[in-house]
Amino acid sequence: MTDQNSQVFGEMYARAYDLCYRTTNYDAEVDWVVQLYKTHGVDRARPLPPLHHVFDMGYGTGSHAVSFMKKGWVVSGVERSAPMAAIARERVKSWRKTPSPLPPELLVGDFQDVVDGRVVLDGYGECDLAAMIFIVIGYQFTNEDLMTALTAARNSLRLGGVLYVDYWYGPTVVTSPPRAELHEYKVDETASWEKLYRLVSPRVDYDRNLVNLTYKLVGIKRDGGVEETIEHHGARYFFEPELRLAGSCAGLRLITTHPFMDSSRRATVGDWKVASVFSAV
Ligand SMILES: C[S@@+](CC[C@H](N)C(=O)[O-])C[C@H]1O[C@@H](n2cnc3c(N)ncnc32)[C@H](O)[C@@H]1O
Repeated sequence: MTDQNSQVFGEMYARAYDLCYRTTNYDAEVDWVVQLYKTHGVDRARPLPPLHHVFDMGYGTGSHAVSFMKKGWVVSGVERSAPMAAIARERVKSWRKTPSPLPPELLVGDFQDVVDGRVVLDGYGECDLAAMIFIVIGYQFTNEDLMTALTAARNSLRLGGVLYVDYWYGPTVVTSPPRAELHEYKVDETASWEKLYRLVSPRVDYDRNLVNLTYKLVGIKRDGGVEETIEHHGARYFFEPELRLAGSCAGLRLITTHPFMDSSRRATVGDWKVASVFSAV
């Protein structure tokens, strides 16, 4: 884990996270990821196995985990931010209301802990699908971090299982670099704030294939007070050939790369967010 990652997804950011992404359609995203699994998993010609098991890598506040459970999947996950994991654990408490036959196993730790055996997914056996949904792989800034994440994924998967990753597409980032943005988010009466703002300042580091992202969050409290935090994130952008090579070193064969949420064509320059699918070999 790099130093740059040590102060990210802290307490205030975790509380703001679901407000920042309240318009995300988590069920639709999981439908798409499962569709990719059904298309590219090697058992696609056979009836689906009775129990479907996903490794939700970097599960954040657990919204995709709930969507998987709503589809009857069993979920194991690893997340390194304790404040994000705490929100996820609250969110999945109602798993019995979903068709998932078993409670989710949401662990706290880094992918490095999984590879080194300090965090063990021991509940439900091999996974059919490993998923790093919403730029999780972009937080693997060095090649060592990248190989650790891919190794953690491969070790969890059965032969023929599928790895899904989405990320900012290198050809697009270098030709149309991101700009600073200020967002105001809608809040309701359950939120800690009356108003919430997020300023994102990107700076592209072309030597590391990394967009450094400074996030400033400002929450205006109901008593007029102000709560704010600054976090230094990053989004490593990837090119398909490097992911193909990295995957092959970890026992994962890259099958295809699509624009995010669009399986009808392959990714090309101009697509900002893309997804690659790997098969465990
Ligand atoms: C942009 S958030 C996405 C969260 C969630 N998947 C979602 O879609 O809402 C990226 C998440 O990945 C987690 N993460 C990134 N790298 C990780 C690593 N090496 N080990 C464990 N968690 C990691 C972060 O802590 C963060 O919660």
